[in-house]
Amino acid sequence: MKGNDPRHGSAQRPRRLRRSPRLRESVAETHLRREMLIQPHFVLEGTGRVEAIASMPGIERQSIDRLLRTIEKDLSLGIRSAILFGVPAGPKDGVGASSYHADALVPRAVAALKAAFGQDLVLYTDICLCAYTDHGHCGVLDGGEILNDPSLEHLSRQAIACAAAGADFVAPSDMMDGRVGAIRTALDRADLGSVGILAYSVKYASAYYGPFREAAHSAPAAGDRKSYQMDPRNRREALRECALDEEEGADMLMVKPALAYLDVIADVRANTTLPVAAYNVSGEYSMVKAAAAAGLIDERLVTLENMTAIARAGADLILTYHGREACERGWL
Ligand code: PBG
Ligand code: ZN
Repeated sequence: MKGNDPRHGSAQRPRRLRRSPRLRESVAETHLRREMLIQPHFVLEGTGRVEAIASMPGIERQSIDRLLRTIEKDLSLGIRSAILFGVPAGPKDGVGASSYHADALVPRAVAALKAAFGQDLVLYTDICLCAYTDHGHCGVLDGGEILNDPSLEHLSRQAIACAAAGADFVAPSDMMDGRVGAIRTALDRADLGSVGILAYSVKYASAYYGPFREAAHSAPAAGDRKSYQMDPRNRREALRECALDEEEGADMLMVKPALAYLDVIADVRANTTLPVAAYNVSGEYSMVKAAAAAGLIDERLVTLENMTAIARAGADLILTYHGREACERGWL
């Protein structure tokens, strides 16, 4: 550096490591890789159907035939992992039985994807009742109360249906107590012992899920999810949830949302040896897209900065709606 006067500085000059792009690259502590990405997909009944989601530009609901093409393209871009969310057409009931009856939507999608791509694709399915219940809650509802243990049976059945169809991982997102253990036991009894569990261990009752609920038609008809999802004010409780899920047999732990909870991601990373995933949720995505569309920010730079922050905090895997576009446009 020109103008460095030994009389003025200490021997330590951090700027020596920032002098050129090549040098900065060589000392960078965080690297984004396409292998870290898990691309979310919304699955529709029928064929040839593609529906735009107004609040989430670039993300669509798709029938299975279209999903096959989309994921084929994702694989060619280097996105090897996908998570499926069902958007069922049929009548809903109190317990979400349509998610696990013979010929249920997501298991059918899983079977088709696995038949087409086999082990080239690492396939996760979200496990929850909210998209399949008439009341839109993630568990069984009784007189305004979400019943915990009666919900476990229905979640387990849904997990078995997806696992039996060929899912590599099931990802329970309901936040009922004991669901990881119940699902693990159910899978093992069904001779599905090699199917893993990505637990949404630390899932906060967040306003950032708004666009997703529009996408999946899964908003609660009445009330909110605060009696089962975590209170955003709580940090220590995240470690308690993780310890329980680990004991119950989780293979990977997730923190959700990601950007407003980087402290929690770092805590979880420091307290487990399991892989840690973070969900860069719909509201986080929509805010970036809306700000970019309004010309307020540089979309590429902000997207990369957000993903880097999530990885730097300690996430090994990132569920993000930005994945495909970031790869397509060569951002990573
Ligand atoms: C279902 C589920 C939700 C999300 C993932 N799984 C919504 C919710 O809990 O209401 C949110 C994902 C996102 O916002 O992108 N329980
Ligand atoms: Zn739910």
